[in-house]
Amino acid sequence: MSVIEELQALQKRATTELEAAQDQASLAVWKSTFLGKKGELTLLSRGLGKLPPEERPEAGQRFNIVRQALEQQFEQAETRAKHASLMDELESEQIDVSLPGRQPSVGRLHPITEVLRQVADAFHIMGFQVWESPEVETDDYNFGLLNFLPDHPARDMQDTFYVESPVDSSEKLLLRTHTSGGQIHAMRRYAPHPVRVLLPGKCYRNEQVTARSEMQFSQFEFLAVGRNITMADLKGTLANLAVHLFGPGTKTRVRPSYFPFTEPSAEMDVSCFLCKGKGCRICKYTNWLEIGGCGMVHPNVLRNGGYDPTEFSGFAGGFGPERIAMLMYGIDDLRWFLSGDERLLEQFG
Ligand code: DAH
Repeated sequence: MSVIEELQALQKRATTELEAAQDQASLAVWKSTFLGKKGELTLLSRGLGKLPPEERPEAGQRFNIVRQALEQQFEQAETRAKHASLMDELESEQIDVSLPGRQPSVGRLHPITEVLRQVADAFHIMGFQVWESPEVETDDYNFGLLNFLPDHPARDMQDTFYVESPVDSSEKLLLRTHTSGGQIHAMRRYAPHPVRVLLPGKCYRNEQVTARSEMQFSQFEFLAVGRNITMADLKGTLANLAVHLFGPGTKTRVRPSYFPFTEPSAEMDVSCFLCKGKGCRICKYTNWLEIGGCGMVHPNVLRNGGYDPTEFSGFAGGFGPERIAMLMYGIDDLRWFLSGDERLLEQFG
């Protein structure tokens, strides 16, 4: 067989084998077998030297034509294979766009957090900053410095969770029973400058757990100390808060009461935003809802906070966000708040 015949046979075989090579791997093998540096075409072309010189140019040209043709076929086959593998990939990743989407599970805010945000917003507008104070307090901060006498019944073990001190200390430690101790912390931090703070946080009392009482609950305390602060400022603050929380037209009133740390002391009421004056079970047909306690900071408490009561005065108040959330959202049992039950949480935020 002449070199040219061998070349034709090689071209035929290469073409047939190329058709059979479907994927990238077999294409690579094909390429090195036929077109590689040590491939069949190169090997065969070595035979050109044995031809008579006058036949060489034409034969050489034929080799070139065959090489070019095979290279072109190879490129086409390679493109086809790439395309096919891309299609396979697409096919394997195929999705049914008509299927219903999956609901992402979105976190929700706890109703107490919701109330806190609204309350903080209302106080923020009035120039109060949110301030945090410790949940484990000394007896002094929780009671003594707030003008509770040593034998005040609230100090009773029945009501207060006392905590064993990790260090040997004469100070009695307890879980705060209200946020009012934060008043002393804030005053001591800012005295003798005026201060306006909102103190939110968890409180603890040794209570029977029922629909209306829990061992752990939240309170928001507010405190403003400065010069010439009067009860009118307290009432104005309350009025603003009520409108912000419960809507325009909400009225407020204060009723005389007693707390050791305020003088005078009062209960804060808001007009029933549920029945709007028609009378309902929740307001017990009085049209008023009690939301917390308040008063003018007692001179002893001002002094304990580092202020001279002849120069400074202040007001303070405290209320329970659980009660506000219960009223706002119609929640009928206090135990829901700490239940962690998603059925409650899903309804908020
Ligand atoms: N600490 C009181 C309580 O737990 C609430 C309270 C009443 C806070 C009057 C105050 C206040 O700041 O002035 O019932």
